[in-house]
Amino acid sequence: MMKFQNTHSDSGFDLTDYLNSQRQITSQALKKIIKTHFSDSRLSSAMQYSLMASGKRLRPVLCMAAAETAGKNNDDVINAACAIEMIHTYSLIHDDLPAMDDDRLRRGKPTCHIQYDEPTAILTGDALLTLAFDVLSDPPSLPENIAIQLQVIKTIASAAGHRGMIEGQMRDIEAETITAPLDKLKQIHRLKTGALIEASVTTGALLTGGSQETVNQLKIYAENIGLAFQVVDDILNVEGDAAKMGKATGTDASRNKSTYPGLLGMEESRQFTTELVNNALHALDIFGNKSVPLSALAEYIIRRER
Ligand code: IPE
Ligand code: IPE
Ligand code: MG
Ligand code: MG
Repeated sequence: MMKFQNTHSDSGFDLTDYLNSQRQITSQALKKIIKTHFSDSRLSSAMQYSLMASGKRLRPVLCMAAAETAGKNNDDVINAACAIEMIHTYSLIHDDLPAMDDDRLRRGKPTCHIQYDEPTAILTGDALLTLAFDVLSDPPSLPENIAIQLQVIKTIASAAGHRGMIEGQMRDIEAETITAPLDKLKQIHRLKTGALIEASVTTGALLTGGSQETVNQLKIYAENIGLAFQVVDDILNVEGDAAKMGKATGTDASRNKSTYPGLLGMEESRQFTTELVNNALHALDIFGNKSVPLSALAEYIIRRER
């Protein structure tokens, strides 16, 4: 078993406390958005149902941790972090539809189309995606940040769209009828999952005025943890505890998905995730103590049980 090259454990940093507090900040901010934008409608009820279920909030937490690493506080980071969580939640609602992965359980609850119905789930996803860009285009707290805001909107749009997550989802479905070779599989994972994770990190850095070097290093970090995250998702689909994960296991094999464990076996897949996390940690070297939360999150991504 490979070892991590460095670790945050000497710094006194407590990941559990950090995750709890950042998740709470995210949930409070999402509640505020819900209060402002939602009405007494079936659609709002379904949006709230999926958004406020117990997701790990990893993308918002990464966005805020990247902001902490890159520099200054900025009130706009939490808004962008929430927008990314809305895009992620929409992607899960659509991913679970019968025409896609046909899953009945998500975040420990019946999937949106089971709790409501298919048309409602499709429209709930559409509405969350649209609301994300509505929130992203709220006036920035400082008017001089408009140019950065546009850059962030473009970054998130490309990551979520037909050259990012959606293309990844398309290729994932196409790969159900073939055994994708390793390079193709890596690309599917990078697109369907890595792209939005990378955008979460980049967004935090851009909004806090991170330099080009900062953004570049954080991109390397994010590329590596983004891929690792999906490989772990595949591993947990084989050997995870469905009750802890709040979603079904064993489904990738039954749908003939192309996965890392399917292609490389469990041990090699695990080794690969350790290699990726080491690359990610290495990319953080230039930041010193400021990147402690990001390094702890990288390790969490491959140790997680849900
Ligand atoms: C699940 O994402 C789908 C993938 C991209 C692998 P998460 O594991 O982050 O799901 P939640 O947000 O915690 O429900
Ligand atoms: C989900 O990938 C990726 C997106 C939703 C974009 P999976 O289909 O592998 O994720 P789970 O296992 O259903 O959460
Ligand atoms: Mg899928
Ligand atoms: Mg799925």
